[in-house]
Amino acid sequence: MVTLRIFYFRSIRILMIRRRMLLMCLAAIIGLFLIKRFMMDNEPHHKTTKKKGLYNLMEETPNMSKHVKDCTIEYANEHKLQQDHPCLLDIIRRQYFNKPSPADVPLYLDYPNIKDQSAGQVTAVLRLLRNLTKGFFIESGAADGESFSNSLFLERDMNWTGLLIEPEPKSYGNLAKRNRKSWTLQNCLSLEKYPTEVSFEKTEITGKIIGNKVSQSELSAGKLANVQCLPLYSILLAHGQTWVDFFSLDVEGHELQVLKTIPWHKVNITVVAVEWEHVEEGYYAIVDYMKEQGYVNFGRIATPYARDVVFIKDFLDDLRYDYIDYDE
Ligand SMILES: *[C@@H]1O[C@H](CO)[C@@H](O)[C@H](O)[C@H]1NC(C)=O
Ligand SMILES: *[C@@H]1O[C@H](CO)[C@@H](O)[C@H](O)[C@H]1NC(C)=O
Ligand SMILES: *[C@@H]1O[C@H](CO)[C@@H](O)[C@H](O)[C@H]1NC(C)=O
Ligand SMILES: *[C@@H]1O[C@H](CO)[C@@H](O)[C@H](O)[C@H]1NC(C)=O
Repeated sequence: MVTLRIFYFRSIRILMIRRRMLLMCLAAIIGLFLIKRFMMDNEPHHKTTKKKGLYNLMEETPNMSKHVKDCTIEYANEHKLQQDHPCLLDIIRRQYFNKPSPADVPLYLDYPNIKDQSAGQVTAVLRLLRNLTKGFFIESGAADGESFSNSLFLERDMNWTGLLIEPEPKSYGNLAKRNRKSWTLQNCLSLEKYPTEVSFEKTEITGKIIGNKVSQSELSAGKLANVQCLPLYSILLAHGQTWVDFFSLDVEGHELQVLKTIPWHKVNITVVAVEWEHVEEGYYAIVDYMKEQGYVNFGRIATPYARDVVFIKDFLDDLRYDYIDYDE
């Protein structure tokens, strides 16, 4: 009886020790997992998607091979990697994002006393968004980051941040010197749902995509540069940001093509300002397309320097209905 009891206690003790070891192992594994998670959370990208809701942001395409052996931009261009391909997103994060200047570095502006250099777009955006602070913008093209900027006021006075996208070499050079508090990319927005390398006219402010990339000899004439275009959706995914309060699109004629690359059901873009003046398909093509995507045409903002049409996401759509009086 006694021996049996001792045996009984012993086995319980052994069991308990084993259990304690097991628990310690488990705790260690959970600890490691948490540390890894914490480190991942503190990487510069991927922050906002988590905060603003998790979605399946990838398009459901059957042909997505995640494992690309030689994941380079040349590979991505050549194989027309779809805009949410992990390889493409990885390249964008590694190669194309340039960090914002630190908060304590003052802006370097030619005209620091001009509060708002936009032609009225910023006033419209702030009225539509009820003076939103800490918003997120995308400006493409961002030009030199000051002249006619549709985002400088938002960044400087309303604590917004965002993405400044400008491929033109000289403009981008000036933009990079401004110490803006937003991420910058020296790229064009792709006119396709995959990355492309194109030739770009080297003219400040009015530079634009000309066509396919050109050879070294054509580049040496000095008028063209080859630049890398990225789909807007790829840039947003790579940044972990699919919520955009204001998107300013001015790419000298290719606006509609850029808009058509965006999977609108996968992003939340509240206000969109599009320069329509150089769009070949015409003003109404843009208006019709944006209506189909669930936007309301707020109207045109036109000055000698900017001819924009402003859209706002239709936030009444779920409430609106046509009242029909059946008694009549
Ligand atoms: C899938 O990708 C491979 C390799 O890029 C290509 O050869 C093939 O045609 C693609 N299939 C479909 C259905 O798109
Ligand atoms: C937004 O700010 C402007 C200028 O400071 C002010 O006149 C306006 O009343 C504000 N609007 C709202 C909705 O708070
Ligand atoms: C912007 O942020 C600064 C520093 O946090 C703060 O002092 C200022 O009031 C903010 N401005 C607005 C318009 O919220
Ligand atoms: C966009 O925002 C609305 C409202 O917050 C939300 O219900 C919806 O799921 C969002 N969609 C995407 C794709 O982020």
